[in-house]
Amino acid sequence: MNTNRQWLLAQRPQGMVGKDNFTYAEQAIPEPGDGQVLVRNLYLSFDPTQRGWMEDRESYLPPVGIGEPMRAGSIGQVVESRHADFAQGDLVQTTGGWQDFVVAAPGLGPMGLSKVPDGVTPEMMLSVLGITGLTAYFGLLDLGQPKAGETVLVSGAAGATGSVAGQIARIKGCRVVGIAGGPEKCAWLKDEAGFDEVIDYKSEDVNARIAATCPNKLDVYFDNVGGEILEAALNHLNLRARIVMCGGISGYNATQPIPGPANLMNLVTMRARMEGFIILDYMSRAPEAINELLGWIASGELKFQVDVQEGFDNIPDTLQRLFTGKNLGKQLLKIADPV
Ligand SMILES: NC(=O)c1ccc[n+]([C@@H]2O[C@H](COP(=O)([O-])OP(=O)(O)OC[C@H]3O[C@@H](n4cnc5c(N)ncnc54)[C@H](OP(=O)(O)O)[C@@H]3O)[C@@H](O)[C@H]2O)c1
Repeated sequence: MNTNRQWLLAQRPQGMVGKDNFTYAEQAIPEPGDGQVLVRNLYLSFDPTQRGWMEDRESYLPPVGIGEPMRAGSIGQVVESRHADFAQGDLVQTTGGWQDFVVAAPGLGPMGLSKVPDGVTPEMMLSVLGITGLTAYFGLLDLGQPKAGETVLVSGAAGATGSVAGQIARIKGCRVVGIAGGPEKCAWLKDEAGFDEVIDYKSEDVNARIAATCPNKLDVYFDNVGGEILEAALNHLNLRARIVMCGGISGYNATQPIPGPANLMNLVTMRARMEGFIILDYMSRAPEAINELLGWIASGELKFQVDVQEGFDNIPDTLQRLFTGKNLGKQLLKIADPV
């Protein structure tokens, strides 16, 4: 291969993100400078936050520029190294973007450059041991502070982050209730992930079902979706409940600002706490989480699903799967196998 295929951001999204927001291009393969490596991307990570990176507004990362390759986390293989710590053939994690090749270095881009530990597959590194697994781990344990016997509600529960957050709560001895869309996802949560109860928000009255499935009310609510489901959860707080604000995917494609919950005063009456976080702030603590997550996977206590699409042409359409709920577990796309 002597060109670098790319998907560039062509226009900022209005409403649902789609293929029209991107344009295909081919460029020369870039050359690494001193202290850098050239990486061939093998697997791309798809994350709801990419929708925010496409907008022209300051956030925790700058927006992707029009005409730039779409930003994305990735696993790739070093094809040329000008850095003493990396050799040709190494499997690495970086911010590869929607392209075949990227120049990477430690400290460059949000994910920097790190080796994939021996024995860890790219699928694991980009899911349960990657951003979504770490988000579940630190969001639930640091912010949610669940105690055995407490009730933990998780929205987006069948997704990459929610499914791990709920299972960690179960491992910590909590009663765990998950909210997800559709019978297939709800069945997986109960039968495989060991959730105590599930709520199908697409076919059930969420407010009534929280009341029915959480008779002792909520001590922790791990929120991935925001909107009406957040408002329903706020109706069922226990004294000193903790609401972990992980994400609000129900509003990411909205064309108008979505109304806030009408019942925020419940935080006052229940002396509850609602707190947001960005996982990039926790990356220096990743080893402690990865160690514990690996132990739970090895013991069979923690299950995870990956949804691996294939083909460079399918990259833009794969992002939309997150917002239509088509993904079953962590959304990835494989561009190539390692050599
Ligand atoms: N704070 C952080 O640092 C951080 C880091 C990573 C992720 N996050 C957040 O965590 C959340 C989950 O991300 P993920 O990467 O793990 O994705 P994911 O949960 O694997 O996939 C997204 C899921 O969101 C659900 N969804 C889509 N539209 C929805 C809507 N309108 N209402 C309710 N649910 C909807 C779909 O599940 P259903 O089929 O069940 O609807 C879909 O499968 C996102 O909000 C993301 O922004 C935050």
